[in-house]
Amino acid sequence: MRYTYKGVPTYKNPFDLALYQMLLWQQKPRTLIEIGSKWGGSALWFADILRSFGVDCVIHSIDITPPSISVQDVTFHRGDGRNLAATLPADLMENLPRPMFVIEDADHHCETTLAVLRFFDRWLVAGEYIVVEDGIVDDLYGPEYVARLMGGPRRAVELFLRDRGQDYEIDTGLCDHFGTNVTWNVNGYLRRVR
Ligand SMILES: C[S@@+](CC[C@H](N)C(=O)[O-])C[C@H]1O[C@@H](n2cnc3c(N)ncnc32)[C@H](O)[C@@H]1O
Repeated sequence: MRYTYKGVPTYKNPFDLALYQMLLWQQKPRTLIEIGSKWGGSALWFADILRSFGVDCVIHSIDITPPSISVQDVTFHRGDGRNLAATLPADLMENLPRPMFVIEDADHHCETTLAVLRFFDRWLVAGEYIVVEDGIVDDLYGPEYVARLMGGPRRAVELFLRDRGQDYEIDTGLCDHFGTNVTWNVNGYLRRVR
């Protein structure tokens, strides 16, 4: 949690920075939506790496308390992952360039993650990704903490896939690239398959 990028705090594990780098090169998204901006460090890193790839990508980063930082190709929005329709109305979503790439990195409460997964289920198409961050909280902070999060991101992924698993798969090639779930995004790299 002490990691920084260009001096901006960035809550990413180095393994995930390596995995994101590979996945973004493969996906070349034209739209990246991040829920949970914090200081803006991750949006800054995503914008820089996509620009260095020559990918013309617009980033929308949403937070209940958006940062004051200004970043090229990034729009920071004030918004709530539990009510994304208010920030990302249908007329905006319909016109976003594709492929789309979504990252859920908000409060890690099961309800928030589930709301984000269900919101984007309407919009994602086969081949696109939604990454659910920080399923690692179970291992980092233990059962009492995760109980306060109503099971946290891992539970949300389980509940979502219970309903919608026919159209998504966990990209185990990524999750297990450095060893089984050597990532903070435990079982969190989800690919829409149909
Ligand atoms: C883990 S931090 C994001 C870290 C950032 N993506 C990074 O990698 O550096 C979580 C952020 O989610 C925001 N947040 C908490 N609840 C939220 C919600 N319901 N909707 C949107 N953002 C939320 C917090 O304000 C906080 O800034």
